[in-house]
Amino acid sequence: MIRSLQLFILAIICVLNLNAQSLKQFTPGEIWKDNNGKHINAHGGGILFHQGVYYWYGEYKVGGKIGNSAQVGVSCYSSRDLYNWKDEGIALKVNETDPLSDISKGCVLERPKVIYNAKTHKYVMWFHLELKDKGYEAARSGVAVSDSPAGPFTYLKSFRPNAGYWPVNVQSFHKKPVASTVKASYCGGKGCLPAPPDSINLLGRDFKGGQMARDMNLFVDEDGSAYHIYSSEENSTLQISKLSDDYLSYSGKYFRLFSGRYMEGVTLFKREGKYYIIASDCTGWDPNAARSAVADQIFGNWTELGNPAMGKDSELTFHSQCTYVLQVQGKKDCYIYMGDRWNPENPIDGRYIWLPVEFEGDKTVIRWKDSWRL
Ligand code: DGJ
Repeated sequence: MIRSLQLFILAIICVLNLNAQSLKQFTPGEIWKDNNGKHINAHGGGILFHQGVYYWYGEYKVGGKIGNSAQVGVSCYSSRDLYNWKDEGIALKVNETDPLSDISKGCVLERPKVIYNAKTHKYVMWFHLELKDKGYEAARSGVAVSDSPAGPFTYLKSFRPNAGYWPVNVQSFHKKPVASTVKASYCGGKGCLPAPPDSINLLGRDFKGGQMARDMNLFVDEDGSAYHIYSSEENSTLQISKLSDDYLSYSGKYFRLFSGRYMEGVTLFKREGKYYIIASDCTGWDPNAARSAVADQIFGNWTELGNPAMGKDSELTFHSQCTYVLQVQGKKDCYIYMGDRWNPENPIDGRYIWLPVEFEGDKTVIRWKDSWRL
């Protein structure tokens, strides 16, 4: 009897240990388990490093095609070593009771990112928001705020960037009268349409109501200035907007880049005084060849440097689309490409492709690894 009790206790200890097993490497494309043994659910995500802890925020997906719209909200996980992640729960919940809320259940809430404002001591979340049942036409930025990194975040507002402001690199033709009904073809599915000709002037069309903002990222510079970078003008052109000092709105200063190049999944980071972009082409949920670029100043001039992925499957960026580039703290020149391997048929089963970013001169290079350590 005592012997079977001992064996039973031993078995329980083994199971607990298995769950608590500490991970020591990245395994791109495999199931990544959290502290509860569940596949991490933080897609299109980004990372905040704060007081020794990494916080990973992302879209919480559910199974089946319905999971392509927001049924739950934004999840948060925490880690000290980037391999082992603790589920911190839902940081921002969709609104389940008010169908008129901007973030009512069933809206499209994508690519959430969080930054910390040292002046206001607030954690500020931005995300791409599409209103429920309106496809991708709203193209708004959503903002939420919290007093603690894991939330709960309170939804504040959603809007389009820079209504009534011209970018710093506006051209004279942009200011000519343009009908608000002017349309450019939506760039979705496989491949993109050619750049909208200048005559379409999407920038001018959206001057009054604000610029479109879809796939997005946030970046905080060394001087504390924060920037929002996003696909705009029907996804044809990127824009970088400087945020207000409290990070809750736009400052009105912004810059257009890569006009007509149709980029999505855009990331922005800095290394040794230079600014870098890694982004994707524009092919819906399907993977494509990534893009990269470098600049001495955040508001240009930006130089495109081609696909950073190298080797087998590089033309599909190893079947992934970028979502964030993380600068690892306390390690020289250590940057991680964070990508999503989407599964639009069953979004909850999307996988994470994290790979080291190397630098060859000014060019970023990403190579496949089955498993790797920092
Ligand atoms: C590609 C974008 O990168 C995703 O964030 C998402 O908006 C899909 N398109 C929707 O098709």
